[in-house]
Amino acid sequence: MRVVVVYESMFGNTREIAEAIVDGLGPTVEARVVGVAAAVADATLVDACDLLVVGGPTQAWSMSRPRTRSGAADYTRQPGSALHLEPRAGSGPGVREWIAGLGLASGRAAAFDTRVHVPAVLSGRASKSIGRARERHGLRLVLPPASFFVHAKDGLLPGEAERARAFGARLVAAVVADGART
Ligand SMILES: Cc1cc2nc3c(=O)[nH]c(=O)nc-3n(C[C@H](O)[C@H](O)[C@H](O)COP(=O)(O)O)c2cc1C
Repeated sequence: MRVVVVYESMFGNTREIAEAIVDGLGPTVEARVVGVAAAVADATLVDACDLLVVGGPTQAWSMSRPRTRSGAADYTRQPGSALHLEPRAGSGPGVREWIAGLGLASGRAAAFDTRVHVPAVLSGRASKSIGRARERHGLRLVLPPASFFVHAKDGLLPGEAERARAFGARLVAAVVADGART
């Protein structure tokens, strides 16, 4: 089974979740985890993969936009903030622009986001809009979109990397149930 995980991340939390999901896929899966800027550069990335997983941070209740990405640096300067920008954070496209450039495809997909731990009606959920955008491009979600939680001024909440590994394992089971070979 071939799985590609494409992520966007300003402060590293969504990258850590992407890496934990890949850990959870297990040793029988041929997996690649790729930052969205590198994904843009590799047009062949999603060819013939059994599952495409896309994740990004929730910003302004949805997927990031150029304006929210450029505002991210302000978060690192807030009093009490332990946040640092990832290398090249905010300089390239986000998952919104990457998905828009995908064209029509077919196949299996999954979506995840990171967001603060308050009810989704207050925080918004980037993964919902990632999932909807992907379905418009002909991709079928194998599981409902998943959210992983961060502290607004710090890193992942305790237990979130473990939850992401479990999500990875559930993805493999869903893809197998859908007919792919391991
Ligand atoms: C400009 C900006 C807007 C944000 N808006 C939201 C929001 O609407 N809802 C939310 O839950 N979190 C919001 N956040 C917090 C992000 O979701 C959090 O920083 C992100 O999940 C961390 O992931 P990353 O380290 O991969 O960037 C926002 C963060 C930034 C920088």
